[in-house]
Amino acid sequence: MTDVRLDHVSKRFGSIQALDDVSLHVAHQEFFCVLGPPGAGKTTLLRSIIGLEHPDAGTVEIGGHDVTGSEPGKRSVGIVFQNLALYPDKTVAKNLGFPLRQQSPRPSAAERDARVREIARLLRIEPLLNRRPAHLSGGERQRVAIGRALVRLHDVYLFDEPLSALDALLRVEMRAELKHLQRNLEKTLIYVTHDHVEAMSLADRICVLAGGRVQQVTSPQEIYRRPANKLVAWTIGSPPINLIEMNVVENDGQLSLDHAEIRIGSLPDGTLDPLRALMGSGATLGVRPEAVMLGRDAGDSRLACRVIAVEPLGPETIVDLELHGQVIKALTPPGVAYRPDERLPVAFDLGTAHIFGGDGATVYSADGDQSLVLHVGAPPNE
Ligand SMILES: Nc1ncnc2c1ncn2[C@@H]1O[C@H](COP(=O)(O)OP(=O)(O)OP(=O)(O)O)[C@@H](O)[C@H]1O
Ligand SMILES: [Mg+2]
Repeated sequence: MTDVRLDHVSKRFGSIQALDDVSLHVAHQEFFCVLGPPGAGKTTLLRSIIGLEHPDAGTVEIGGHDVTGSEPGKRSVGIVFQNLALYPDKTVAKNLGFPLRQQSPRPSAAERDARVREIARLLRIEPLLNRRPAHLSGGERQRVAIGRALVRLHDVYLFDEPLSALDALLRVEMRAELKHLQRNLEKTLIYVTHDHVEAMSLADRICVLAGGRVQQVTSPQEIYRRPANKLVAWTIGSPPINLIEMNVVENDGQLSLDHAEIRIGSLPDGTLDPLRALMGSGATLGVRPEAVMLGRDAGDSRLACRVIAVEPLGPETIVDLELHGQVIKALTPPGVAYRPDERLPVAFDLGTAHIFGGDGATVYSADGDQSLVLHVGAPPNE
C-alpha cells in the first residue's frame, strides 16, 4: 500500500504563504491531479512530498510512514521536474540508464540494460535508444525525460507540469500516452498542471489549489457539476464560467435574485436561508458559456444582447455578448454566422447554473434541477 497523506502542511517563503494548512490523502495507485494557477503552490507541494522542501508545520506520510523529517533519498518517490533537461552528449539509452548508475547498491550492467529496455518499451521509445537528444522531436524528448524519472523503481511518482513545454497537438498525444502509461505502471501518481483539460482527462480525482490552499478535492465529473466555490467553477471550463452579480431581494415574503435586466424567482427551498443572509451584500449567478443560448436557440426569450466579438473555432463558436455593461460568453454550435453589433435573443439554461455567496462559496448547484426560473426585464416592483 503506497498512499500519500499530507496533514495540515504549511510552508512559507518570507512573506509568501506557499502552502497554507494543506491536508490531502492520495490513495494507493491513484492518478491524482493538482490543478492551480501559477504561484498556487503546486511545485512546493511536490517538493514537500519528495523531501526537497521541509514544511514549517504539518506532516507528510508515505505508505503509512511519517517521512516529514527524512531526506529525499530515504523516500521511494520519483519526480519529473517542470523544466527537464537531458544530457545532450549521451544517447537516449545512456540518459535513461544514468539514474540507475547512481543507485546504491548499483545494479549490474545487465540489470540496468534490462530496466532501460523495459522503460523504453513502456514509453514506446525503443527505436530511439541510440539517438542523441538533439535528434529527437519535442514529444520524443519529453518521453525520454519521463522515462528517466520512471527508470528507478519507486512507489510514488510526481509529475510537475511535464507537458507544459509542448505544443497543443503534442500535448493531446502525450496526454493519451500518460493515461496508458499509468494503467501499466500501477503506481501512485501525483500530477501537477495548470491545464484543466489535462486534469479532467487524466485524473481519478482533482485537487484545485489556489493561494496555497486546497479549494476542493473530488472527481472530474463532480468538480464540473458541483464546484465548491466560485474559484473552482472559474478554474474548470473554457471559456470560463460567466459570473453575473445579483442582488438578493425580498418582496411580499418572496425571495429573488435581481439584476438590471433579469430576475431569478422560484428559488429552491435549501437556498432561502443562506440567500436571505446575503440580503444587501448580494450573490453571484454562474452560467457556463455552453448554457448560454442565442438566436433561434434562445426560443422566445425577451432578453436581447449585443454581439461584441465572434471567434469561430471549428467545432464550436465563442460569441462575446454585452449584458448590462458586462461581457458574457456563449459557446454555440457552428453553422450560424453571428456578426458584431447585431442584437440577439439570449437565454440561459439554468439547469446547470450555480449560485455563489458573498464569500464565493457555492450556495446552490442546479445539477439538472430545473427549478430556477429566469424572468427578463426590469424587476416588476421597482
Ligand atoms: N524558494 C523560494 N523562495 C521564495 N519564494 C518561493 C520559493 N519557491 C516558491 N516560492 C513562492 O511560493 C509561491 C508558490 O510557488 P510554487 O512554485 O509552488 O507555485 P506553482 O503553483 O508551482 O507555480 P507555477 O505554475 O508558476 O509553476 C510563489 O509565490 C513563489 O514565488
Ligand atoms: Mg510550479
